[in-house]
Amino acid sequence: MMSEKRSSFTGRIGFVLAAAGSAVGLGNIWRFPYLAAKYGGGIFLLVYLILAVTFGFALMIAEIALGRKTGLSTIGAYAKLDKRFGFIGILGAVIPAIILPYYSVIGGWVTKYLAIYLTGQGHGAAADGFFDTFIGKPVEPLIWFLVYIGLTAIVVMFGVEKGVEKVSKIMMPILVVLTLFIAVYTMFIPGAMDGVLYYITPDFSKFSVTTVLAAMGQLFYSMSLAMGIMITYGSYMKKEDDLERSVRHIELFDTGIAFLAGMMVIPGVFAFSGGDESALGQGPGLMFVTLPKVFDYIPGGGIIGFVFFLLVLFAALTSSISLMETIVSVIMDKFKLGRKVSCLIVFAFSVLLGIPSSLGNGIWKDITLFGMDFLTFFDFASNSVLMPIVAFFTCIFVGFVIKPQSLIDEVEISSPFKSKRLFAVIIKYVAPVCIILILVSSVLNGLNIISI
Ligand code: TRP
Repeated sequence: MMSEKRSSFTGRIGFVLAAAGSAVGLGNIWRFPYLAAKYGGGIFLLVYLILAVTFGFALMIAEIALGRKTGLSTIGAYAKLDKRFGFIGILGAVIPAIILPYYSVIGGWVTKYLAIYLTGQGHGAAADGFFDTFIGKPVEPLIWFLVYIGLTAIVVMFGVEKGVEKVSKIMMPILVVLTLFIAVYTMFIPGAMDGVLYYITPDFSKFSVTTVLAAMGQLFYSMSLAMGIMITYGSYMKKEDDLERSVRHIELFDTGIAFLAGMMVIPGVFAFSGGDESALGQGPGLMFVTLPKVFDYIPGGGIIGFVFFLLVLFAALTSSISLMETIVSVIMDKFKLGRKVSCLIVFAFSVLLGIPSSLGNGIWKDITLFGMDFLTFFDFASNSVLMPIVAFFTCIFVGFVIKPQSLIDEVEISSPFKSKRLFAVIIKYVAPVCIILILVSSVLNGLNIISI
Protein backbone atom coordinates (compact mmCIF):
# COMPACT_ATOMS: atom_id res chain seq x y z
CA MET A 1 0.00 0.00 0.00
CA MET A 2 2.68 2.49 0.97
CA SER A 3 5.44 1.98 -1.53
CA GLU A 4 8.58 4.09 -1.67
CA LYS A 5 7.47 5.86 -4.79
CA ARG A 6 4.10 7.49 -4.41
CA SER A 7 2.09 5.66 -6.97
CA SER A 8 -1.39 6.77 -7.79
CA PHE A 9 -4.59 4.97 -8.52
CA THR A 10 -5.38 4.40 -12.14
CA GLY A 11 -8.49 6.52 -11.99
CA ARG A 12 -11.50 7.49 -9.96
CA ILE A 13 -13.09 4.06 -10.09
CA GLY A 14 -9.88 2.42 -8.94
CA PHE A 15 -9.70 4.87 -6.08
CA VAL A 16 -13.30 4.36 -5.03
CA LEU A 17 -12.95 0.58 -5.11
CA ALA A 18 -9.72 0.59 -3.14
CA ALA A 19 -11.11 2.89 -0.46
CA ALA A 20 -14.34 0.89 -0.34
CA GLY A 21 -12.28 -2.26 -0.01
CA SER A 22 -10.70 -0.89 3.14
CA ALA A 23 -14.03 0.33 4.46
CA VAL A 24 -16.07 -2.81 3.80
CA GLY A 25 -15.20 -5.54 6.25
CA LEU A 26 -16.35 -7.10 9.47
CA GLY A 27 -17.55 -3.65 10.50
CA ASN A 28 -20.36 -3.86 7.98
CA ILE A 29 -21.26 -7.51 8.15
CA TRP A 30 -20.59 -8.41 11.75
CA ARG A 31 -20.62 -5.18 13.77
CA PHE A 32 -23.39 -3.11 12.18
CA PRO A 33 -26.20 -5.69 12.48
CA TYR A 34 -25.58 -6.47 16.14
CA LEU A 35 -25.41 -2.78 17.07
CA ALA A 36 -28.57 -2.02 15.11
CA ALA A 37 -30.34 -4.92 16.80
CA LYS A 38 -29.19 -3.82 20.21
CA TYR A 39 -29.82 -0.08 19.93
CA GLY A 40 -33.41 -0.02 18.80
CA GLY A 41 -33.39 -1.11 15.14
CA GLY A 42 -34.93 1.60 12.97
CA ILE A 43 -33.89 4.45 15.21
CA PHE A 44 -30.26 3.33 15.07
CA LEU A 45 -30.46 3.02 11.31
CA LEU A 46 -31.92 6.53 10.99
CA VAL A 47 -29.32 8.11 13.28
CA TYR A 48 -26.56 6.28 11.44
CA LEU A 49 -27.78 7.47 8.05
CA ILE A 50 -28.06 11.09 9.20
CA LEU A 51 -24.56 10.96 10.67
CA ALA A 52 -23.17 9.33 7.54
CA VAL A 53 -24.34 12.04 5.15
CA THR A 54 -23.32 14.94 7.41
CA PHE A 55 -20.56 14.02 9.74
CA GLY A 56 -19.07 11.05 7.93
CA PHE A 57 -19.19 12.97 4.66
CA ALA A 58 -17.36 16.01 6.05
CA LEU A 59 -14.72 13.98 7.83
CA MET A 60 -14.01 11.75 4.87
CA ILE A 61 -13.69 14.75 2.55
CA ALA A 62 -11.32 16.34 5.06
CA GLU A 63 -9.10 13.28 5.38
CA ILE A 64 -8.89 12.50 1.68
CA ALA A 65 -8.27 16.15 0.80
CA LEU A 66 -5.57 16.38 3.48
CA GLY A 67 -3.83 13.40 1.95
CA ARG A 68 -4.13 14.64 -1.61
CA LYS A 69 -3.01 18.15 -0.67
CA THR A 70 0.12 17.06 1.18
CA GLY A 71 0.88 13.88 -0.76
CA LEU A 72 1.80 12.27 2.56
CA SER A 73 0.35 9.64 4.85
CA THR A 74 -0.99 10.35 8.28
CA ILE A 75 2.09 11.07 10.38
CA GLY A 76 3.62 13.37 7.79
CA ALA A 77 0.46 15.06 6.58
CA TYR A 78 -0.46 16.92 9.76
CA ALA A 79 3.13 17.84 10.58
CA LYS A 80 3.74 19.22 7.11
CA LEU A 81 0.91 21.72 7.45
CA ASP A 82 1.62 22.61 11.08
CA LYS A 83 4.36 21.15 13.24
CA ARG A 84 2.33 21.45 16.44
CA PHE A 85 -0.31 19.08 15.12
CA GLY A 86 1.89 16.16 14.13
CA PHE A 87 0.67 14.37 17.25
CA ILE A 88 -2.78 13.80 15.68
CA GLY A 89 -1.16 11.64 13.05
CA ILE A 90 0.74 9.65 15.64
CA LEU A 91 -2.35 9.17 17.78
CA GLY A 92 -4.22 8.02 14.70
CA ALA A 93 -1.53 5.47 13.95
CA VAL A 94 -1.93 3.86 17.39
CA ILE A 95 -5.58 2.96 16.74
CA PRO A 96 -5.01 0.24 14.13
CA ALA A 97 -2.65 -1.45 16.60
CA ILE A 98 -5.50 -1.72 19.08
CA ILE A 99 -8.04 -2.85 16.50
CA LEU A 100 -5.99 -5.48 14.66
CA PRO A 101 -5.69 -8.02 17.52
CA TYR A 102 -9.38 -8.22 18.39
CA TYR A 103 -10.40 -7.91 14.73
CA SER A 104 -8.34 -11.04 14.18
CA VAL A 105 -10.09 -12.85 17.02
CA ILE A 106 -13.39 -12.28 15.19
CA GLY A 107 -11.65 -13.19 11.94
CA GLY A 108 -10.74 -16.48 13.62
CA TRP A 109 -14.41 -17.12 14.39
CA VAL A 110 -15.23 -16.55 10.72
CA THR A 111 -12.50 -19.01 9.72
CA LYS A 112 -13.92 -21.61 12.12
CA TYR A 113 -17.39 -21.20 10.61
CA LEU A 114 -15.94 -21.57 7.14
CA ALA A 115 -14.35 -24.85 8.26
CA ILE A 116 -17.68 -25.96 9.73
CA TYR A 117 -19.46 -25.47 6.40
CA LEU A 118 -16.57 -26.93 4.47
CA THR A 119 -16.90 -30.17 6.42
CA GLY A 120 -20.68 -30.19 6.13
CA GLN A 121 -21.42 -29.60 9.79
CA GLY A 122 -23.65 -26.61 9.30
CA HIS A 123 -26.61 -28.29 10.96
CA GLY A 124 -24.73 -28.65 14.23
CA ALA A 125 -23.78 -24.97 14.17
CA ALA A 126 -27.47 -24.05 14.07
CA ALA A 127 -28.06 -25.59 17.49
CA ASP A 128 -28.74 -23.31 20.46
CA GLY A 129 -25.66 -22.58 22.50
CA PHE A 130 -23.24 -23.77 19.83
CA PHE A 131 -21.53 -20.43 19.40
CA ASP A 132 -21.19 -19.66 23.12
CA THR A 133 -19.73 -23.08 23.77
CA PHE A 134 -17.22 -22.56 20.97
CA ILE A 135 -15.94 -19.11 22.01
CA GLY A 136 -15.87 -20.22 25.63
CA LYS A 137 -13.33 -22.96 24.93
CA PRO A 138 -9.81 -22.13 26.04
CA VAL A 139 -7.77 -23.44 23.12
CA GLU A 140 -9.79 -23.85 19.94
CA PRO A 141 -10.70 -20.19 19.30
CA LEU A 142 -7.06 -19.28 19.95
CA ILE A 143 -5.94 -21.66 17.24
CA TRP A 144 -8.36 -20.13 14.73
CA PHE A 145 -7.19 -16.69 15.78
CA LEU A 146 -3.59 -17.72 15.09
CA VAL A 147 -4.55 -19.14 11.70
CA TYR A 148 -6.30 -15.92 10.78
CA ILE A 149 -3.62 -13.50 11.92
CA GLY A 150 -0.97 -15.79 10.47
CA LEU A 151 -2.65 -15.53 7.06
CA THR A 152 -2.79 -11.76 7.40
CA ALA A 153 0.88 -11.58 8.36
CA ILE A 154 1.98 -13.78 5.48
CA VAL A 155 0.26 -11.57 2.94
CA VAL A 156 1.71 -8.41 4.47
CA MET A 157 5.17 -9.95 4.68
CA PHE A 158 5.28 -10.94 1.04
CA GLY A 159 3.44 -7.88 -0.06
CA VAL A 160 1.01 -9.52 -2.43
CA GLU A 161 -1.60 -6.79 -2.00
CA LYS A 162 -1.80 -6.35 -5.74
CA GLY A 163 -3.22 -9.84 -6.11
CA VAL A 164 -5.53 -9.30 -3.18
CA GLU A 165 -6.89 -6.20 -4.85
CA LYS A 166 -7.58 -8.04 -8.07
CA VAL A 167 -9.36 -10.89 -6.31
CA SER A 168 -11.38 -8.52 -4.16
CA LYS A 169 -12.72 -6.83 -7.27
CA ILE A 170 -14.31 -10.16 -8.13
CA MET A 171 -15.23 -11.28 -4.62
CA MET A 172 -16.83 -8.05 -3.41
CA PRO A 173 -19.59 -7.92 -6.03
CA ILE A 174 -20.36 -11.61 -5.36
CA LEU A 175 -20.60 -10.81 -1.67
CA VAL A 176 -23.16 -8.08 -2.44
CA VAL A 177 -25.26 -10.42 -4.58
CA LEU A 178 -25.15 -13.23 -2.03
CA THR A 179 -26.01 -10.90 0.85
CA LEU A 180 -28.95 -9.61 -1.16
CA PHE A 181 -30.11 -13.16 -1.85
CA ILE A 182 -29.86 -14.21 1.81
CA ALA A 183 -31.62 -11.01 2.90
CA VAL A 184 -34.53 -11.58 0.53
CA TYR A 185 -34.79 -15.26 1.42
CA THR A 186 -34.77 -14.51 5.14
CA MET A 187 -37.64 -12.05 4.72
CA PHE A 188 -39.93 -14.89 3.72
CA ILE A 189 -39.23 -17.09 6.73
CA PRO A 190 -42.36 -17.04 8.95
CA GLY A 191 -42.04 -14.40 11.64
CA ALA A 192 -39.25 -12.52 9.87
CA MET A 193 -41.46 -9.65 8.73
CA ASP A 194 -41.62 -8.31 12.29
CA GLY A 195 -37.87 -8.10 12.16
CA VAL A 196 -37.92 -6.19 8.90
CA LEU A 197 -40.32 -3.70 10.47
CA TYR A 198 -38.20 -3.44 13.60
CA TYR A 199 -35.21 -2.69 11.41
CA ILE A 200 -36.72 -0.08 9.11
CA THR A 201 -39.26 1.76 11.27
CA PRO A 202 -37.72 4.19 13.73
CA ASP A 203 -39.23 4.03 17.20
CA PHE A 204 -38.44 7.41 18.70
CA SER A 205 -39.06 6.24 22.23
CA LYS A 206 -35.94 4.11 21.88
CA PHE A 207 -33.78 7.13 21.12
CA SER A 208 -31.03 7.97 23.60
CA VAL A 209 -27.56 9.48 23.73
CA THR A 210 -26.20 5.96 23.66
CA THR A 211 -27.81 5.44 20.26
CA VAL A 212 -25.92 8.42 18.85
CA LEU A 213 -22.75 7.35 20.54
CA ALA A 214 -22.91 3.82 19.25
CA ALA A 215 -23.83 5.05 15.77
CA MET A 216 -20.95 7.50 15.69
CA GLY A 217 -18.41 4.94 16.86
CA GLN A 218 -19.71 2.58 14.19
CA LEU A 219 -19.43 5.29 11.55
CA PHE A 220 -15.74 5.88 12.24
CA TYR A 221 -15.06 2.17 12.37
CA SER A 222 -16.99 1.22 9.30
CA MET A 223 -15.66 4.01 7.11
CA SER A 224 -12.10 3.55 8.38
CA LEU A 225 -12.07 7.18 9.53
CA ALA A 226 -10.10 8.90 12.28
CA MET A 227 -7.01 6.77 12.01
CA GLY A 228 -5.31 8.22 9.01
CA ILE A 229 -6.07 5.46 6.51
CA MET A 230 -8.14 7.74 4.32
CA ILE A 231 -5.34 10.35 4.41
CA THR A 232 -2.99 7.75 3.00
CA TYR A 233 -5.50 6.79 0.31
CA GLY A 234 -6.00 10.46 -0.51
CA SER A 235 -2.29 10.88 -1.00
CA TYR A 236 -2.49 8.35 -3.82
CA MET A 237 -5.39 10.11 -5.51
CA LYS A 238 -4.93 12.03 -8.71
CA LYS A 239 -5.49 15.78 -8.71
CA GLU A 240 -7.97 15.57 -11.56
CA ASP A 241 -10.28 12.98 -10.01
CA ASP A 242 -13.59 14.23 -8.62
CA LEU A 243 -13.11 14.05 -4.85
CA GLU A 244 -16.62 14.89 -3.67
CA ARG A 245 -18.24 12.36 -5.95
CA SER A 246 -15.75 9.70 -4.92
CA VAL A 247 -16.57 10.24 -1.25
CA ARG A 248 -20.29 9.94 -1.96
CA HIS A 249 -19.71 6.67 -3.77
CA ILE A 250 -17.52 5.19 -1.02
CA GLU A 251 -20.18 6.09 1.53
CA LEU A 252 -22.93 4.60 -0.58
CA PHE A 253 -21.00 1.37 -0.98
CA ASP A 254 -20.15 1.06 2.68
CA THR A 255 -23.59 2.00 4.00
CA GLY A 256 -25.35 -0.14 1.40
CA ILE A 257 -23.53 -3.29 2.48
CA ALA A 258 -24.09 -2.53 6.16
CA PHE A 259 -27.81 -2.03 5.48
CA LEU A 260 -28.07 -5.31 3.62
CA ALA A 261 -26.19 -7.16 6.34
CA GLY A 262 -28.75 -5.87 8.84
CA MET A 263 -31.54 -7.06 6.54
CA MET A 264 -29.96 -10.47 6.54
CA VAL A 265 -29.41 -10.84 10.27
CA ILE A 266 -32.15 -8.94 12.15
CA PRO A 267 -35.24 -10.54 10.54
CA GLY A 268 -33.52 -13.88 11.12
CA VAL A 269 -33.34 -13.14 14.84
CA PHE A 270 -37.09 -12.54 14.91
CA ALA A 271 -37.84 -15.65 12.94
CA PHE A 272 -35.79 -17.98 15.08
CA SER A 273 -36.08 -16.55 18.57
CA GLY A 274 -39.82 -17.15 18.69
CA GLY A 275 -40.54 -13.51 19.44
CA ASP A 276 -38.05 -13.33 22.30
CA GLU A 277 -36.76 -9.76 21.99
CA SER A 278 -33.86 -10.31 24.35
CA ALA A 279 -32.20 -12.23 21.52
CA LEU A 280 -31.62 -8.83 19.91
CA GLY A 281 -29.21 -7.79 22.65
CA GLN A 282 -27.00 -10.80 22.10
CA GLY A 283 -24.05 -8.59 21.05
CA PRO A 284 -20.96 -9.58 19.08
CA GLY A 285 -22.14 -13.15 18.53
CA LEU A 286 -25.37 -12.20 16.78
CA MET A 287 -24.29 -13.00 13.24
CA PHE A 288 -22.72 -16.31 14.28
CA VAL A 289 -25.84 -17.37 16.11
CA THR A 290 -28.48 -16.26 13.62
CA LEU A 291 -27.01 -17.02 10.21
CA PRO A 292 -26.38 -20.75 10.82
CA LYS A 293 -30.07 -21.04 11.67
CA VAL A 294 -30.99 -19.24 8.45
CA PHE A 295 -28.67 -21.51 6.43
CA ASP A 296 -30.14 -24.54 8.14
CA TYR A 297 -33.57 -23.42 6.96
CA ILE A 298 -32.68 -22.61 3.33
CA PRO A 299 -32.56 -25.64 0.99
CA GLY A 300 -28.93 -26.05 -0.03
CA GLY A 301 -28.01 -23.80 2.90
CA GLY A 302 -24.89 -25.81 3.60
CA ILE A 303 -23.36 -24.64 0.35
CA ILE A 304 -24.67 -21.11 0.70
CA GLY A 305 -23.17 -21.00 4.20
CA PHE A 306 -19.82 -22.11 2.85
CA VAL A 307 -19.75 -19.51 0.08
CA PHE A 308 -20.97 -16.84 2.45
CA PHE A 309 -18.31 -17.38 5.10
CA LEU A 310 -15.66 -17.62 2.41
CA LEU A 311 -16.63 -14.18 1.12
CA VAL A 312 -16.83 -12.72 4.62
CA LEU A 313 -13.41 -14.15 5.39
CA PHE A 314 -12.14 -12.47 2.30
CA ALA A 315 -13.69 -9.09 3.12
CA ALA A 316 -12.22 -9.37 6.62
CA LEU A 317 -8.78 -10.32 5.35
CA THR A 318 -8.57 -7.37 2.98
CA SER A 319 -9.32 -5.12 5.95
CA SER A 320 -6.94 -6.75 8.41
CA ILE A 321 -4.20 -6.78 5.78
CA SER A 322 -4.47 -3.03 5.38
CA LEU A 323 -4.67 -2.56 9.16
CA MET A 324 -1.45 -4.54 9.58
CA GLU A 325 0.20 -2.86 6.62
CA THR A 326 -0.44 0.51 8.23
CA ILE A 327 1.26 -0.47 11.48
CA VAL A 328 4.10 -2.23 9.70
CA SER A 329 4.86 0.78 7.52
CA VAL A 330 4.90 3.10 10.55
CA ILE A 331 7.37 0.80 12.30
CA MET A 332 9.52 0.50 9.18
CA ASP A 333 9.70 4.28 8.84
CA LYS A 334 10.13 5.16 12.50
CA PHE A 335 12.66 2.54 13.51
CA LYS A 336 14.31 2.01 10.13
CA LEU A 337 13.62 -1.72 10.23
CA GLY A 338 13.08 -4.10 7.37
CA ARG A 339 9.65 -5.34 6.29
CA LYS A 340 10.07 -8.90 7.61
CA VAL A 341 11.28 -7.85 11.05
CA SER A 342 8.57 -5.19 11.38
CA CYS A 343 6.00 -7.74 10.33
CA LEU A 344 7.16 -10.21 12.98
CA ILE A 345 7.05 -7.51 15.65
CA VAL A 346 3.49 -6.56 14.75
CA PHE A 347 2.51 -10.23 14.58
CA ALA A 348 3.94 -10.99 18.03
CA PHE A 349 2.39 -7.92 19.54
CA SER A 350 -1.02 -8.68 18.03
CA VAL A 351 -0.94 -12.26 19.25
CA LEU A 352 -0.20 -11.06 22.78
CA LEU A 353 -2.99 -8.52 22.70
CA GLY A 354 -5.40 -10.89 21.00
CA ILE A 355 -5.06 -13.67 23.58
CA PRO A 356 -6.97 -11.85 26.32
CA SER A 357 -9.67 -10.84 23.79
CA SER A 358 -10.18 -14.49 22.98
CA LEU A 359 -9.94 -15.93 26.50
CA GLY A 360 -12.22 -13.19 27.83
CA ASN A 361 -15.14 -15.13 26.40
CA GLY A 362 -14.33 -18.20 28.41
CA ILE A 363 -11.84 -18.90 31.15
CA TRP A 364 -11.05 -15.21 31.69
CA LYS A 365 -14.69 -14.20 31.70
CA ASP A 366 -14.45 -12.87 35.23
CA ILE A 367 -11.58 -10.50 34.52
CA THR A 368 -13.01 -7.21 33.39
CA LEU A 369 -11.66 -3.79 32.52
CA PHE A 370 -14.08 -1.05 33.56
CA GLY A 371 -16.80 -3.67 33.61
CA MET A 372 -16.09 -4.89 30.08
CA ASP A 373 -14.54 -8.13 28.84
CA PHE A 374 -11.27 -7.62 26.97
CA LEU A 375 -12.68 -7.69 23.45
CA THR A 376 -15.41 -5.20 24.32
CA PHE A 377 -12.86 -3.04 26.10
CA PHE A 378 -10.49 -2.82 23.13
CA ASP A 379 -13.43 -2.16 20.83
CA PHE A 380 -14.68 0.55 23.18
CA ALA A 381 -11.26 2.16 23.73
CA SER A 382 -10.59 2.48 20.01
CA ASN A 383 -14.04 3.29 18.63
CA SER A 384 -15.64 5.25 21.44
CA VAL A 385 -12.62 7.01 22.91
CA LEU A 386 -9.56 7.30 20.66
CA MET A 387 -11.34 7.75 17.33
CA PRO A 388 -13.57 10.58 18.58
CA ILE A 389 -10.45 12.27 20.02
CA VAL A 390 -8.62 12.04 16.70
CA ALA A 391 -11.74 13.19 14.85
CA PHE A 392 -12.09 16.14 17.23
CA PHE A 393 -8.53 17.32 16.70
CA THR A 394 -8.84 16.83 12.96
CA CYS A 395 -11.89 19.13 12.97
CA ILE A 396 -10.10 21.76 15.06
CA PHE A 397 -7.05 21.50 12.86
CA VAL A 398 -9.01 21.86 9.64
CA GLY A 399 -11.55 24.32 10.99
CA PHE A 400 -9.26 26.77 12.77
CA VAL A 401 -5.63 26.13 11.87
CA ILE A 402 -5.41 25.45 8.16
CA LYS A 403 -9.03 26.67 7.65
CA PRO A 404 -11.72 24.80 5.68
CA GLN A 405 -11.06 27.01 2.66
CA SER A 406 -7.67 25.39 2.10
CA LEU A 407 -9.32 21.97 1.70
CA ILE A 408 -12.21 23.41 -0.29
CA ASP A 409 -9.58 24.75 -2.71
CA GLU A 410 -8.07 21.27 -2.86
CA VAL A 411 -11.43 19.69 -3.70
CA GLU A 412 -12.12 22.38 -6.30
CA ILE A 413 -8.95 21.58 -8.20
CA SER A 414 -10.89 18.72 -9.74
CA SER A 415 -14.52 19.86 -9.69
CA PRO A 416 -16.92 22.38 -8.12
CA PHE A 417 -17.54 21.52 -4.45
CA LYS A 418 -21.31 21.49 -4.15
CA SER A 419 -21.59 20.98 -0.40
CA LYS A 420 -18.76 23.27 0.62
CA ARG A 421 -20.86 25.36 2.99
CA LEU A 422 -22.18 22.26 4.72
CA PHE A 423 -18.63 20.96 4.91
CA ALA A 424 -17.24 24.14 6.52
CA VAL A 425 -20.04 24.46 9.08
CA ILE A 426 -19.84 20.82 10.12
CA ILE A 427 -16.06 20.75 10.41
CA LYS A 428 -15.84 24.03 12.32
CA TYR A 429 -18.78 23.93 14.66
CA VAL A 430 -21.19 21.01 14.53
CA ALA A 431 -18.72 18.16 14.61
CA PRO A 432 -16.35 19.38 17.36
CA VAL A 433 -19.20 20.28 19.71
CA CYS A 434 -21.05 17.02 19.10
CA ILE A 435 -17.90 14.95 19.46
CA ILE A 436 -17.01 16.48 22.81
CA LEU A 437 -20.52 16.00 24.14
CA ILE A 438 -20.62 12.44 22.94
CA LEU A 439 -17.11 11.62 24.06
CA VAL A 440 -17.69 12.85 27.59
CA SER A 441 -20.97 11.03 27.94
CA SER A 442 -19.54 7.91 26.36
CA VAL A 443 -16.56 7.75 28.66
CA LEU A 444 -18.67 8.39 31.74
CA ASN A 445 -21.14 5.82 30.57
CA GLY A 446 -18.47 3.28 29.65
CA LEU A 447 -16.91 3.66 33.05
CA ASN A 448 -20.36 3.27 34.57
CA ILE A 449 -20.21 6.69 36.19
CA ILE A 450 -23.45 7.70 34.59
CA SER A 451 -25.96 5.53 32.86
CA ILE A 452 -27.62 6.79 29.71
N1 TRP B 1 -13.65 -0.42 8.09
C1 TRP B 1 -13.26 -1.75 8.39
C2 TRP B 1 -14.50 -2.62 8.55
O1 TRP B 1 -15.60 -2.16 8.39
C3 TRP B 1 -12.46 -1.85 9.64
C4 TRP B 1 -11.39 -0.88 9.68
C5 TRP B 1 -11.31 0.13 10.52
C6 TRP B 1 -10.29 -0.81 8.82
N2 TRP B 1 -10.20 0.83 10.24
C7 TRP B 1 -9.56 0.27 9.22
C8 TRP B 1 -9.86 -1.57 7.77
C9 TRP B 1 -8.42 0.63 8.57
C10 TRP B 1 -8.71 -1.23 7.11
C11 TRP B 1 -8.00 -0.13 7.50
O2 TRP B 1 -14.40 -3.77 8.89
